[in-house]
Amino acid sequence: MHRTWFVVLLASLLSFAAAAGTALIVVCLTPGIFGRDASRREPVEELVGVLAVATVIGIALVARYFAHPHDAHARLEGSAGTTTILCAVFSVLGAALAYIATFPEQYAHGRRLRGAGRLLLPSLGPHRESESESAAIDGELPEGWVAEVPPEVRDGLAAEWRENARKEHAAIASFGQTLLKLMALGADDSLLAALHRDALDEVRHARLCFAVATALDGKHVRASAFAGARGGYLLPGRRLGLVQVAIEALVDGALNEAVAARILGRLAARGGPLTKVLRDLAADEARHAAHSWDIVRWCGREGGPQVIAALRGAARALPRRMRGDLPPAARSGAWERWGVQGEALEAEEVQRAIARTRDRLVAMSV
Ligand SMILES: [Fe+2]
Ligand SMILES: [Fe+2]
Repeated sequence: MHRTWFVVLLASLLSFAAAAGTALIVVCLTPGIFGRDASRREPVEELVGVLAVATVIGIALVARYFAHPHDAHARLEGSAGTTTILCAVFSVLGAALAYIATFPEQYAHGRRLRGAGRLLLPSLGPHRESESESAAIDGELPEGWVAEVPPEVRDGLAAEWRENARKEHAAIASFGQTLLKLMALGADDSLLAALHRDALDEVRHARLCFAVATALDGKHVRASAFAGARGGYLLPGRRLGLVQVAIEALVDGALNEAVAARILGRLAARGGPLTKVLRDLAADEARHAAHSWDIVRWCGREGGPQVIAALRGAARALPRRMRGDLPPAARSGAWERWGVQGEALEAEEVQRAIARTRDRLVAMSV
């Protein structure tokens, strides 16, 4: 194709992509636009988010061509002006990816595993503990603690602890996905080792949560088949991959696990019969959140200003709230003595964690 026509075509694509991308991002980031309830996201909005990311990637690729028209695969080391434009593009990309990564606006014990706008969870099946499994949780629960739980509360409380166990089990797969993505991007072995240890923590958390549920209602069930436990998708190109992994670590780990750590820590401080369990879970989740920040910083160091710009864009797209999908009977806080938070405690810690996360991202340097 004649070069002039090729440039005209690229310029047209860029103009279209910029206009479409801007419109989509405005739709994504503006609460209440087109009557959208800012507290809920519909599947069509997820589609809009995906289109926004595709559009922004298109802009990035066209900008990349103009930066290096004779070597589209060359490392982006253009002029200061080019870097500024690319950072602006990556900032929008980061906002769009963060918008997608916050589907659903639901916090979970353990690192979240997402897919198709929902948390992915394993199914449950009958199970009898082996001697080694029983030994692993021996001494974690105090003798006779169930006697102080009113009988009419036990079934509902058991169901909620079992839901938390499913989330903890899903977190094992989430750490596995992140591990594979980081390996593909060339992460150092200290990060990989930390993720392996975190995944083992989640194995233990799932066992503990299942054990609490069994103590309450006597049902012996465990996670069985888990179709959602797959390798996950990594965007093509190292820099885009770094942006994706950084934002997933930010939302599913640094933010979500920090919320879990704070809630569990506050519940432990109230001194109920499950204090030891809650305190241990809180300490582990806080460490996992710190490891996610390690991932975010590593991606920033590896990816340079564009990844930092993407993270700052992500900071602007974080949700105002994340819900824990609480059963109605727990929302008042009536189950907090037994490790299930109420709505007020949850909302307070979610908002605090979101504000802290935004502050850390804004202060982050290359
Ligand atoms: Fe956990
Ligand atoms: Fe965790």
